[in-house]
Amino acid sequence: MPDRAAVIAALDSVIDPKTGQGLFEAGLVQGLVVAEDRAGFVIEVPSAETRLYAPVRDAAEAALAALPGMARVSVVLTAEAVAAPARRTAGLSPQAMDQSRARAPVATERPAHVRQVIGVASGKGGVGKSTVAVNLACALAARGLRIGLLDADVYGPSLPTMLGVSGKPDYEDGAMVPHEAFGMKVMSVGLLTKAEDAMIWRGPMASQALTQMLTQTRWGTEAEPLDILVVDLPPGTGDVHLTLVQKTLLDGMVIVSTPQEVALADARRAHTMFEKVGAKTLGLIENMSGFPDPVSGDLIPIFGHGGARDEAERLGVSFLGDLPLSQALREGGDAGRPLVATERDGDMARRLGAVAAALVEKLDL
Ligand SMILES: Nc1ncnc2c1ncn2[C@@H]1O[C@H](COP(=O)(O)OP(=O)(O)OP(=O)(O)O)[C@@H](O)[C@H]1O
Ligand SMILES: [Mg+2]
Repeated sequence: MPDRAAVIAALDSVIDPKTGQGLFEAGLVQGLVVAEDRAGFVIEVPSAETRLYAPVRDAAEAALAALPGMARVSVVLTAEAVAAPARRTAGLSPQAMDQSRARAPVATERPAHVRQVIGVASGKGGVGKSTVAVNLACALAARGLRIGLLDADVYGPSLPTMLGVSGKPDYEDGAMVPHEAFGMKVMSVGLLTKAEDAMIWRGPMASQALTQMLTQTRWGTEAEPLDILVVDLPPGTGDVHLTLVQKTLLDGMVIVSTPQEVALADARRAHTMFEKVGAKTLGLIENMSGFPDPVSGDLIPIFGHGGARDEAERLGVSFLGDLPLSQALREGGDAGRPLVATERDGDMARRLGAVAAALVEKLDL
């Protein structure tokens, strides 16, 4: 069985491209867990550097996998994600939201043939909103519900990649026909234009695109209405969020946070902002909660654990569940094959299945 010293030596054989030191020596290895024949850790880097570090992660994985007796290695590369594009995260204060609301009141209706609309939000970027939105949608669909997914991250759409869909939607009678993936209807600005182009849009164009996707998409029909439209939001509280509340009634928000205090503070802000515009928080999900212990399955905390549960209690909202760091979850997202859809009996499907069950109880279906 490999011991910790052997694992650290193997990690130091991989060189950090920025400092020239070994990975462990450079302090890049967080939350190293060595248990039985498995090991796992996190590399957290500024979001601008994730591309630089992807080969480093692969090299670290290979170095550990080559140790005698090592059966499974899970290395997760996460972005600190404070450097998301300014426009995506530009904050509107609750007061500014109030003022804008006075000018353009919040919507009181949902898109045609949609029974319930829920948003997936966070304050901080990179906490896993899109990953949670997609996999939660799969868990809801697995309950036999008709589900749609709307990528409201008009400046940085990620659902086409995460669901493996591409190509412009067809038009029928002036309405866009959404793509279908894993039994769900999907619409994203990434399908209407090149994703790179989206980054240079100005606010009004982004608002227009979101409005169009909400109201001019054939989400459902009279005979077969969509049960739930899940909306994946960009980070922060900006113009996109404002457009959303002006264009559709929101039946509730799911707020995603990692356990760190900075992320929780932003989650709190997102909760406050949405409550102000009448969208209640259905609950909090803690993502990247730790590595599952290979023997007991309990989560071994890495960034601290349980912060979101305590925060939910403070805010007086439900705690919906925690999701471990999972390489399979990340790879499923990169490959366009959401883990909850491909491993329907797996741990992640079980966890998100429980979240889906709790949400259905809270919705008017
Ligand atoms: N539980 C997890 N375990 C491992 N990796 C994860 C987990 N959740 C998300 N990730 C990975 O973290 C990265 C960021 O996730 P994602 O894009 O879902 O975050 P986001 O909050 O939507 O980001 P943004 O704020 O940019 O919209 C992705 O590479 C994703 O695969
Ligand atoms: Mg996202």
